[in-house]
Amino acid sequence: MCGIVGYIGSKDAGPLLLQGLKQLEYRGYDSAGIAIGSADRIEQVRRVGRVANLAGALEEEPLRGSAGISHTRWATHGKVTEENAHPQPSSDHRFSLVHNGVIENFESIRAFLRERGYQFHSETDTEALANLIAYHYDKEPAASPDGRESHFLRSVRKALLHVEGTYGIAVLCADAPDQLVGARKGSPLIVGLGSGENFIASDVAALLGATLQVIYLNDGELVELTRDSYRILSSEREPVDAVVHEVDWKIEDSQLGDFEHYMLKEIFEQPQALENALRGRIAEDGSTAKFGGLNISPRDLRQVDRIVFCGCGTAWHACLVAEHLIERYARIPVEVEYASEFRYRNAPLDKDTLVFVISQSGETIDTLAALREARRKGYRTLAINNVVGSTIARETDGGIYQHAGPEIGVASTKAFTSQLFLSSMVALLFARLRDMSFSDGFRYMESLRRLPEQVEQALRMNDSLQRVGQWLAGFEHCLFLGRQLLFPIALEGALKLKEISYIHAEGYPAAEMKHGPIALVSESCPSLFLVSQGEVLPKVVANMQEIKARGGPIVAIATESCQLPEGLVDERITIPDADDPTLAILATIPLQLLSYHAALARGCDVDKPRNLAKSVTVE
Ligand code: M6R
Repeated sequence: MCGIVGYIGSKDAGPLLLQGLKQLEYRGYDSAGIAIGSADRIEQVRRVGRVANLAGALEEEPLRGSAGISHTRWATHGKVTEENAHPQPSSDHRFSLVHNGVIENFESIRAFLRERGYQFHSETDTEALANLIAYHYDKEPAASPDGRESHFLRSVRKALLHVEGTYGIAVLCADAPDQLVGARKGSPLIVGLGSGENFIASDVAALLGATLQVIYLNDGELVELTRDSYRILSSEREPVDAVVHEVDWKIEDSQLGDFEHYMLKEIFEQPQALENALRGRIAEDGSTAKFGGLNISPRDLRQVDRIVFCGCGTAWHACLVAEHLIERYARIPVEVEYASEFRYRNAPLDKDTLVFVISQSGETIDTLAALREARRKGYRTLAINNVVGSTIARETDGGIYQHAGPEIGVASTKAFTSQLFLSSMVALLFARLRDMSFSDGFRYMESLRRLPEQVEQALRMNDSLQRVGQWLAGFEHCLFLGRQLLFPIALEGALKLKEISYIHAEGYPAAEMKHGPIALVSESCPSLFLVSQGEVLPKVVANMQEIKARGGPIVAIATESCQLPEGLVDERITIPDADDPTLAILATIPLQLLSYHAALARGCDVDKPRNLAKSVTVE
């Protein structure tokens, strides 16, 4: 949520910052802005709307200088206007600040500063901090008492001591044109190291193509960058000996290539993402999964007698699938919690409970808070996470990286199916530590190995799904119905459709439909059923009949051997036959493509749906 990029070096900062913002735009796209320091002045350009608007403005009015900060905004405080866009200058224009997070006590900071003559021109919480830094700069002696901090860095640190809330910030100071200062608490911030140049950014994607050497800042840390150096201090002013990491994403991973949209590209990358998730994780005897980063012995894993999964949005749906698979195959009781609820619910857990979080970005604040709460109470924690070095990845006791590559489309696709796949492998791991036999484990693993090819096969339906998606685009309401393992996929189908096409969609267990949602059924509200062969098929067919009797159009996404009565459904989309370990993934593919085509037909921006941001770093 909100993207930050800062640069200090010898090149022209403007184009580099703009490129970083483009690569980071999925974090927010309400407005964008850039500030560049040159000599003893800071100049800025801000525009409402996409980074492209800012780029257009900069073409007409270029900013020159080799140190700067930039921002793409997801509005929290204040409407989407140029005045509320970042960077936010202090009222004396000596400081300029970009910020991701929420300053909760900004009203009292503003009141304090107003009494001392500071002026405010925006409705943002960020402007309060810009002025608070200016206030401390005036109060602090210019000379450093012990040489640990510059005047600039010390003023930022002192100001932050008074801030309640979360922040990832980058700051420019007109008096110190050869320095850039950053700080984080609760919102991600990384430092990128180049040769004769350094960067600051809210995530790695901004730096692809510029540098692969990064430092992940920890909460409470501040950094001071010059073109040739960096200095990191803890909130207690202790120098931090930071570890430099090498990023393993390539710039091509974050480019569109031949695709029109990231979402479509990422849908088609799923076979590869699944191969990546599986690589190196099949035990030697082929009957179970192995993971390098769990940091927990098989004996301790056997002790786990309850698992609580937490996630948000699509990742929460992945948790529901994990619940089904682990309970079915490993017979361990599982509960699934919205991460945002878990941390405030204070649920009683016993000592052998494992808290397992799922998050693509590894930065979702609610999921992070749930993880921290579980750790604070001493529970063992694990995470499934895509972004290497993310906060969740660094704070969990053990974890599994998805290796799905960067997911740029705001609607999660390949990250979701990769989370389902890894959940399925986790279920196998637990099951084989308990009662599952070697041959059942071997067969389970065989079905996982077959999956990438089956997903390829499902993707070949794209053309026929385009027609159905375009038909779906003509409706304003839609129901998604499925049972057992396919119920969470119905929820995910509904979420995908509503978030990118703005068609109102709801997911329900098929049998629950009779208890209320059936009131919505009419010729103008289609129902999408997810069905597979098995004991509940006759019941689901009966639900279809009930909808048909009321004139509701029906689409069935059904496995190959699933027999449906002639003439019952208006459209049938056939997916390969699959067992439970892989069924949810195969059923997801057509739902993603349907949503994509429906959204496109409605003229929506599928990669950047309105009001959303890729990673939600505010509560
Ligand atoms: O990065 P995370 O997996 O923690 O993100 C969780 C949700 O914000 C995310 O899945 C969201 O629901 C997506 N927009 C779904 O497409």
